[in-house]
Amino acid sequence: APGGPVQASAVSSVTVAPTHRRRGILRSVMAGELRTAASLGLPVAALTVSESTIYGRFGFGAAAAAANWEIRTRRAGWIGPEAPGRVDFVSRDQAREVAEALHERVRVTSPGEIALPGGHLNRFFGTSPDAEKAERLRTIQYRSPAGEVDGLAVYRVVENPDDFSESTLELSWLLAATDDAYAGLWRFLLEMDLIALLRASELGLDEPLWWMIADQRAAKITVTDHQYVRILDVPAALTSRRFGAADTIALEVDDSLGIAGGTFIATTDAEGRATVEAVDAPPAGVPLLRLGVRELSSLFLGGVSVSTLARAGRVEADDPTRIARVFQTVESPRLSFWY
Ligand SMILES: CC(C)(COP(=O)(O)OP(=O)(O)OC[C@H]1O[C@@H](n2cnc3c(N)ncnc32)[C@H](O)[C@@H]1OP(=O)(O)O)[C@@H](O)C(=O)NCCC(=O)NCCS
Repeated sequence: APGGPVQASAVSSVTVAPTHRRRGILRSVMAGELRTAASLGLPVAALTVSESTIYGRFGFGAAAAAANWEIRTRRAGWIGPEAPGRVDFVSRDQAREVAEALHERVRVTSPGEIALPGGHLNRFFGTSPDAEKAERLRTIQYRSPAGEVDGLAVYRVVENPDDFSESTLELSWLLAATDDAYAGLWRFLLEMDLIALLRASELGLDEPLWWMIADQRAAKITVTDHQYVRILDVPAALTSRRFGAADTIALEVDDSLGIAGGTFIATTDAEGRATVEAVDAPPAGVPLLRLGVRELSSLFLGGVSVSTLARAGRVEADDPTRIARVFQTVESPRLSFWY
């Protein structure tokens, strides 16, 4: 979250047998899961979805979108900084070995990113015994001048048999723990011979890469909802997050599952820390934000502003601009994989 890691219940692989669908099984399983997570003291739950329309009813809000890029590499033109380190090929096993620690470095500074679930590394690096066409994966690492591995990328090249100079590079994962690693890896990928098109998905909405290419129209970017968050405990969630301005606001949160709803006063200080307490009624003279737990969850990572949600009719705010300043964050959230 903005300000550092938060414990979360990450929900994966939700499936009801096709013979038993639409009888309320998901509803009872999900409500049970969320109540259990709340009683364990977890401030939030999170998931990625196969369909956008399923989880809003359970209080999940779209919280970090994914940007999917298609870059005409020859048109892009690198204008970013020159990275001082070096890029080398490494074996998939070698890359896999450093990936977890590297991802942890990235995770703690990147709102929206979660700890790697078990099994994901095998999937990314094709290192499980049943991996298909794993030998087509290429893995590179970025090393700083001090010799530290600060970045990693996994990709494959899809050749164009009609014209080998028009091949496509499909980037499946890029991890950069430093700005140098980010610049070094992206430049290497964008300037590769024989590649005309680079595809990358699950990037952030505010990638520095956009400002590192001379021709921004070389990139076609599409956006999808990606990381969903569900607040389970309003004071615990909000106090674990950092805010953008010192102020006092009131929140009236509606939760149809009866887990996190209530009225709260949040006071934020100049460092962005909040104290939050439940109250019986919103006090007079304090701007009030009235919203569903779903919308509060969408605000949690900083992926949307209060004023945008107010203009969309999704929240009611006494003074949307003032409350938006409180919720404002610096980093745009990102989640680099599905789970
Ligand atoms: C999606 C799935 C888990 C739903 O399970 P289910 O037991 O049939 O769902 P329920 O009967 O408990 O329905 C709960 C609510 O979700 C709604 N819903 C169920 N499936 C939905 C779908 N695919 N899209 C939109 N809404 C859906 C129901 O209409 C119901 O709405 P209500 O609360 O307003 O009445 C199940 O259909 C499934 O396994 N689908 C295939 C795998 C999948 O897509 N999983 C999601 C992975 S993230």
